[in-house]
Amino acid sequence: MVDRLDGTVALITGASSGIGAATALELSGHGAAVALVARRAERLESLAAKIRGQGGAALVLAADMTVAEQASEVVERTVADLGRLDTLINNAGVMLLGPAVGAPLAEWQRMVEINLLGLLYCTHAALSHLIEAAAQDPRYVADMVNISSVAGRVARSGSGVYNATKHGVGAFSEALRQEVTGRHVRVSLVEPGAVDTELVSHNRPQIQDQMRQRFASVERLQADDIAGAIGFIVTRPRRVAVNEMLVRPTEQEY
Ligand SMILES: NC(=O)c1ccc[n+]([C@@H]2O[C@H](COP(=O)([O-])OP(=O)(O)OC[C@H]3O[C@@H](n4cnc5c(N)ncnc54)[C@H](OP(=O)(O)O)[C@@H]3O)[C@@H](O)[C@H]2O)c1
Repeated sequence: MVDRLDGTVALITGASSGIGAATALELSGHGAAVALVARRAERLESLAAKIRGQGGAALVLAADMTVAEQASEVVERTVADLGRLDTLINNAGVMLLGPAVGAPLAEWQRMVEINLLGLLYCTHAALSHLIEAAAQDPRYVADMVNISSVAGRVARSGSGVYNATKHGVGAFSEALRQEVTGRHVRVSLVEPGAVDTELVSHNRPQIQDQMRQRFASVERLQADDIAGAIGFIVTRPRRVAVNEMLVRPTEQEY
C-alpha cells in the first residue's frame, strides 16, 4: 500500500541532473510539490517546466549548497512559497577519485564541502520544519533521505576522501535518526552502487578512463532505479521507517 504525498512539500538538492532530477519527477508523481535546488538554474527551469506540464508544482531555487547562508535561504524560501517542508532529499554531491599521493587538495575540499558540509547546512535549516510537518495533516510523518553510497560502507584504495564523506553521512544519519524518530521524522540512508549519471565526468580524464574500465562489464543502474527506491521509502505508512537501503547493479560484486 502506497501513501500518496498530496498536500506535502519535498525539497531535493542536486536536482539539476542524475538521481536528484529523477527523484523530483518521482516525488511529484506521488503528489508532492517539489523545490528544486542546484547551481545550474537553466537545468532546474526545464525540469520545473516538465513537472508543471504533467500537472505538478515546482519551485526553482538556484543555490550553491556549500554556502551555509544559501542553504538556509533555500529552505526558508521553500516554506515561504510552498507553505511547509515534509520531505528533504539530501542528494547533492561530487565524487573525485584517485590516489591520495599527489591528489589535488582542492578535490578533497570540494567533496567535504558539498557531500558533508552542504548536507549538514541543509539539514540544520530544515529540521525544525520537518518536525513541524510531522505533527500535522496530511501524514503526521516527515522524511529526510540522505544519499550515501556503497562507498559509505566499503572503503577502497583510491577513494579515501569520498569514502570519508559518505561514511560520515552514514554516521550522522544514524545519530540523527535516533534523535528525531520519536517525533516521527524518519531519517533514511540510501546507498547506491554505480549509477549512470554525470558523476564520473567531474574527474580528471585518466581517472575517468580507470572508472570506465572498472565498470565496463557491469550494466549500471539508471537514476530512475534510485528515484524509485527513494519513492518507496517516503511513501511508506507512518508506522514504517526504512532506515537504510543498499542498491547495487546486479553485476557489481563490491
Ligand atoms: N552515480 C553514482 O554512481 C552514485 C553512486 C552512489 C552515490 N551517488 C551519490 O548520488 C548523489 C547524486 O549524484 P548523481 O550520480 O546524480 O550525479 P550528478 O548527475 O553529477 O548530480 C550531482 C548533483 O549535485 C549537484 N551539486 C553539486 N555540487 C553542488 C553545490 N555546490 N551546490 C548545489 N548542488 C550541487 C549538481 O548540480 P549543479 O552542478 O547544477 O550544482 C547535480 O545536480 C551524490 O551524492 C553521489 O555521491 C552516486
